[in-house]
Amino acid sequence: MVGFSLHKLHDSLGAEVRGLDLSEPMDSGTRDDLVQAWTDHLILLFRGQELTPETQRAFCEQFGPLGGRLRKADQRPEGQDADNIMLVTNVRKNGVPIGSLPDGEMFFHHDKCYAAEPDWGTMLYAMEVTRVGGHTLFANMYDAWETLPDDLKAKIDGRKVLHIYKYLPTERVDLKDGIDKYDHRWQPMVITHPKSGRRALYVNELMSAMIEGYDEDESSEIINALNAHVKSAGIIYDHKWRRGDLMMWDNWCTMHARTDFPRDQTRMLRRYTVMGQELSA
Ligand code: SIN
Repeated sequence: MVGFSLHKLHDSLGAEVRGLDLSEPMDSGTRDDLVQAWTDHLILLFRGQELTPETQRAFCEQFGPLGGRLRKADQRPEGQDADNIMLVTNVRKNGVPIGSLPDGEMFFHHDKCYAAEPDWGTMLYAMEVTRVGGHTLFANMYDAWETLPDDLKAKIDGRKVLHIYKYLPTERVDLKDGIDKYDHRWQPMVITHPKSGRRALYVNELMSAMIEGYDEDESSEIINALNAHVKSAGIIYDHKWRRGDLMMWDNWCTMHARTDFPRDQTRMLRRYTVMGQELSA
């Protein structure tokens, strides 16, 4: 018997899970039911949670080993982010952000798509939220693939795309600048989700830089057309955060972006990820 109820957030993706206190240990039946709900809905929202770093971590570990940081500790902004936990915040100490991804808009991206084994899940918990903006947008990338016009499908199916991350929120790497200093990885443009077996578009606005078999201009044209398609296909859920929200999302079949917000409003969220695996077409 399922120990929680599900309430759809959007026609394309997302469900709110009601009836669970995530700070409490979970039995394996509930955990399995949650995995099924996650597979079906792609992103799951839990409202009104009171989570410490330890209880949030314990919840995430129900789904597998935690994901680590690719960026070496001495290359991260000076702050307190440890290997598994990340504070997503604009709070500063002596003018220096105490966490990561501090300010403003972020383009659409898949977490860790530039790694050999991209993380499966991300669990982000809201401790302090802005009154205005700072929403997170989630796109259903199964639907993105399925609704893509046939001519675009034919241009990309079976090809690879180069994902590069410059650790900036709205700036892609300039290929002329060289890529060796940035984390990067060639990945299938359309992946088969390791758990659902469904195909998902695996291209994003922030990190996808180049398509195998096309020159730079052709690559940009196709990547821009794919991004435009995602934004116009009615497959995006816009999440306005409340304190106490925990959102867990699947990084293989969704991508996410963040809307701008005023610099003088505090935003503080805590993030863990669940380790993933190599992805194939
Ligand atoms: C992220 O991309 O992991 C952060 C999203 C957000 O700050 O809303």
